[in-house]
This record gives sequence, structure tokens and C-alpha cells, in this order.
Amino acid sequence: MEEIHDIALTVNGTPRTARAPARRLLSDLLRHDLGLTGTHVGCEHGVCGCCTVLLDGEPVRSCLMLAVTAAGHEVTTVEGLAGTDGTPSPVQRAFRECHGLQCGFCTPGFLCTVTALLRETPRPTRDQVLEGISGNLCRCTGYQNIVASVHRAAELLAGSAGEGTA
Ligand code: FES
Ligand code: FES
Repeated sequence: MEEIHDIALTVNGTPRTARAPARRLLSDLLRHDLGLTGTHVGCEHGVCGCCTVLLDGEPVRSCLMLAVTAAGHEVTTVEGLAGTDGTPSPVQRAFRECHGLQCGFCTPGFLCTVTALLRETPRPTRDQVLEGISGNLCRCTGYQNIVASVHRAAELLAGSAGEGTA
């Protein structure tokens, strides 16, 4: 019989608990146990980046991480990027403005990745943007609008600096 673990972590600012076997993936914990289906699962092999969430602010592939290893940490999923009143974050606004998505399946991973990228590098060059999103695959957009979205998000964030909306 598989051992079940009590897992306590903070998700999108809220303390959450779940009981799960040691082999439970973080992506499955988020989607199935906590009901946060915004985190998408594509390849389940660490290749596509769809499942990217932020762990203590750093992007991680939730399909490669065991849920138990996230215990005690802070996870931010795409559901946690908007403001508490539902106002989209600057990164989300930029993707909408610049049509940075088509089917949207890859979008949660991109939004998390880009949020972390712009925290680290607020005014990235085109090469830094390309490098920053190189771990995320999109089958629809050809990336042009995604790249434009990242630059637009940087502008929006620069404009909102000091307003606490990052
Ligand atoms: S589902 Fe995790 S990287 Fe593809
Ligand atoms: S928008 Fe469809 S996979 Fe990226």
C-alpha cells in the first residue's frame, strides 16, 4: 500500500493542504487535488513548458516536480497572476493587447515564465526575450506576437512601477 503524505504549501497566497502519495506530480496536485486547472499539461516530459508555475518566484516545470517537494514553498499558478480583484496583470494585458495567443493552451506557461523573466530582466533585449521564452513551446502563433507581448509587458510594467501592480 502506497504511503500517503500530508502536503502543506501556499498556492497563490493561500495556505493549502492535500493528501497525496509520494509519486504525485505537482502538476497533478494543482489540477486534480486543488482544482487549479489553469496549469496545463502537454508533454509531461519537461519539454513543452505548458505546465510552468512559479515556485518561490522561480519558474519550474510542475510535471517534473513531485508535489511533496513543494511542501512548505510558495507556488504561483496562472490563476494567481491577476490582482485579487481579477484585474489582469501587465503580462496578461500585454498578451491580450498583442494577440500573443491563439488556442491558448501554452499561454499559462508563457505567462508564468514571462512574469519571472521580467522580474529578473525588466527591459529585456530581443535576444534576452528569445532566450527567456526558449523553454516554452507554442504550436500556433509563430512566436512573433508572443515576443511583441513580452516587450509590451515590459513597457506596461515600467509604466506601473511604483503602483504595486506587478
Ligand atoms: S507538460 Fe511539463 S513541460 Fe510539458
Ligand atoms: S497558442 Fe496554441 S499552442 Fe500556443
